[in-house]
Amino acid sequence: MKPLLDVLQGKSPSRRPVWLMRQAGRYLPEYREVRRKAGSFLDLCYSPSLAAEVTLQPLRRFDLDAAILFSDILVVPQAMGLMLDFVENEGPKLETVNDSSGVKRLDAANAATSLGKVYETVSLVRQQLDWRVGLIGFCGGAWTVASYMIEGGSSDRKRALAVAARGEVWFGDLMEKVIEVSVEYLCRQVEAGAEALQIFDSWAGDVPAVLREAVVLAPSRKIIDGVRARHHDVPVILFARGLGRGHADAARYCAPNAMGVEQGVSLSELSVQLGEGVAVQGNLEPEKLLSGEKEFCGAVQAVLEDAPKGRHIFNLGHGILPSVAPERVTELVRLIREHDGV
Ligand code: CP3
Repeated sequence: MKPLLDVLQGKSPSRRPVWLMRQAGRYLPEYREVRRKAGSFLDLCYSPSLAAEVTLQPLRRFDLDAAILFSDILVVPQAMGLMLDFVENEGPKLETVNDSSGVKRLDAANAATSLGKVYETVSLVRQQLDWRVGLIGFCGGAWTVASYMIEGGSSDRKRALAVAARGEVWFGDLMEKVIEVSVEYLCRQVEAGAEALQIFDSWAGDVPAVLREAVVLAPSRKIIDGVRARHHDVPVILFARGLGRGHADAARYCAPNAMGVEQGVSLSELSVQLGEGVAVQGNLEPEKLLSGEKEFCGAVQAVLEDAPKGRHIFNLGHGILPSVAPERVTELVRLIREHDGV
């Protein structure tokens, strides 16, 4: 009945589900308007009525199959006690953790409870959502979140990688705390009305092969297992960006309901490796939404033709860019529906 949930549960959908990472955001004038009203990005995240409003904005404009909670992966470290700010045109600035005493100071026990405004947003969105549209909750992958906690903001992640490579005990403790809070945080989103979950491990591709199991795969598996222990049936999408040929391995290890993949990965090849049980999500290159008409259409067709029938959730390979014209998204959805004849 809901195409997104049907695909995630292995049922055949009435149509191919489509949603876009960062579908609520600066490329929409109505988002910029609400954002101005809210004051700052974080004020917007913590104002349930405004956050619900921007969550729903893309659904009003486009014929999409999912809404994604409007928030950010970095509210988790903030809730653990680190100072967080989003600086205009610079991105996030997060207080850092550099040693075991820093890790000890993090409050894992109360962090998820203190994010009540986020759960309020989830339930407000759920009340207003069309019955055919799925509601996705999310958290960051433990590696991606921990890397921001070590680096303090957007970076090349060299420091965090060095800490992980040295096998520092405090790094392991930090990861465990992030995992613990993430499980509780996702469970509460489900209890508030989220119907599917996505783990955004955007920097998974940075991690060298020797560290991949410890730093990327095992933590995501722990988050997924932890959530399923409480909510057996909630479907999980694992977006471990940049694994390339490693996505099939990651899916075997973590057992998500769908693998989200970056551009350049063949969805048909991956789907054969995954088998019927795991769907694929992706993977139009975000920059193609800025290309000329011919290149844009060609790229969309290529994804549509490569994707496995009935086992595909259309998305981009990463978040939509702020410079995209909203009309391009209208056209994207039209091209997908036309191709599928629905
Ligand atoms: O997808 C959605 O529409 C849901 C909301 C969402 C946001 N961030 C809103 C946001 C989600 C799921 C995220 C995830 C997120 N946040 C990730 C993982 C996915 C990815 O993009 O790789 C990461 C790494 C972050 C951290 C983060 N948040 C950065 C580095 C930045 C600054 C860069 C930027 O795009 O501005 C943000 C800010 C942010 N998060 C914005 C939005 C809409 C822009 C804030 C604004 O309005 O100024």
